[in-house]
Amino acid sequence: MSTLKALAAELSQQPLSNWMTPERTQSLTLQAGPWRVDLSKHYLNEASMAALKQWCSERGIDQAIKDLFAGKPLNLTEGRAVMHMAMRAEAGDDCHADGEPVMRDVLRERERCLAFAERVRSGEHRGATGERIERVINIGIGGSDLGPRMAVGALAPDHNGPDLRFVANVDPSDLYHALEGADPAKTLIIVASKTFTTIETLTNARAAREWLVASLGDAAVADHFVALSTAADKVAEFGIGAEQTFGFWDWVGGRYSLWSSIGLPIMIAIGRDAFCEFLAGARDMDQHVQSAAFEQNLPVLMGALYAWYRQDWDKPSVAVIPYDQHLSELPAYLQQADMESLGKRVDREGNPIDHPTGAVVWGEPGTNGQHAFFQLLHQGSDWIPVEFIVPANARLGAQSQHDLLVANALAQGEALLVGKDTDTARAEMSGPGGLDLGPHRTFPGSRPSTLFLTEAMTPRALGALIAFHEHRIFVQGWLWNLNAYDQWGVELGKALALSAADALATGNTDGKDASTAAAIAWVRENRG
Ligand code: F6P
Repeated sequence: MSTLKALAAELSQQPLSNWMTPERTQSLTLQAGPWRVDLSKHYLNEASMAALKQWCSERGIDQAIKDLFAGKPLNLTEGRAVMHMAMRAEAGDDCHADGEPVMRDVLRERERCLAFAERVRSGEHRGATGERIERVINIGIGGSDLGPRMAVGALAPDHNGPDLRFVANVDPSDLYHALEGADPAKTLIIVASKTFTTIETLTNARAAREWLVASLGDAAVADHFVALSTAADKVAEFGIGAEQTFGFWDWVGGRYSLWSSIGLPIMIAIGRDAFCEFLAGARDMDQHVQSAAFEQNLPVLMGALYAWYRQDWDKPSVAVIPYDQHLSELPAYLQQADMESLGKRVDREGNPIDHPTGAVVWGEPGTNGQHAFFQLLHQGSDWIPVEFIVPANARLGAQSQHDLLVANALAQGEALLVGKDTDTARAEMSGPGGLDLGPHRTFPGSRPSTLFLTEAMTPRALGALIAFHEHRIFVQGWLWNLNAYDQWGVELGKALALSAADALATGNTDGKDASTAAAIAWVRENRG
């Protein structure tokens, strides 16, 4: 048995709540950019810290971080560097991807995007009939949707640009609602797709173009459509010109692309200065991960901890609970970032991995989640690591009410840790007819959680939080020796969707399994 596995077995028998001291909390509270992160409610002690450090050192994590930032081709199944950090680097930074210097192109494209966003915000960019743009609709899916959607929501207090809508689903009702009430003359459509081949996005983009052309004619497309993509040739085929196309590069993964031109909706929402602060927050975390010692390095320590919880404690999920209503899309964003990256069953060389890997990431804002699934977190048969993300100050609304929100976050972490023993529960009350409620009202406690505190959910704090998760995911993937940067697992479903669409249209179900063939036949009989 490995040291880490033996430690998991040993520590799981110990009441974590007995470990708490002010010194422990002080030494396990890390500062990374604007975030104060308390890891003292985790199974971290001298022995587990030493074992995790040893694991990181055996896996060469320091060199791996150097190689990542040097732009080496770490995404080996696609033969590419992983260099989204360049998208938030500054002039003068020496960033390379696959051996080529990239900053000149990065800065040029960033400036094009920021300048265009400012023209839309100021009203300088007008529609075909001279009207000011009042609604912007981003059509994209996965990494071309979740990041900008999450960030625009998270930074709602900074949103002073035009109305922004996001359309991802090929379900026609998604586009329907985004176009409802929109005046084509005052609407800008952003088509966001790294590959410009994604069927959901192209289908919605074509439908949006028909909607626009029906009232303004073909010539209006130039003023009302822009594209965000690495595939300039495919964008041109679609009919969007080079002036209206904002590019990025294949070494920016889709789920890591919100810092690039894919962030155009964020730029339009919050403007140049706030967007640059967002990038600066991510850069703070880039510097932190490269320079902090193991014990102080938030992404490295949490990546190792989560890898250990999954691999040796067999914890299959992680709950992310933002105590900030504006962060309601964060769990969905992190689902793609984490699960598309770590949901792999073979290592970098293609050999089967003999332990569990990626966990299910899920969550809802507090306090809402408390009244839905926290029952299971407190008294379920297994524990789940929980992240509490808590800004101390309200950006909108009354601070006194926000204080109650914060109090709830702190109370949940305390309840998970401290619990309540059966004697105390029994003494508090009995049930109908003197029924013993002790076992029902016992809280086992010793359930780990992380407290992320920051002064306020500013663009800088958000940028640092997202970059933290990117690096934490990198560390986990590296410890498991898997490629966190490809996503072959989405391909089969995409191909079969095309053949299912064909079968729905023609009725030909040759080659389909019996269940799928029967479903196709039923839909053909029962649709309008
Ligand atoms: O299907 C998965 C995926 O490839 C994601 O990785 C990506 O973010 C999303 O589709 C959208 O891809 P694109 O930006 O190329 O349209």
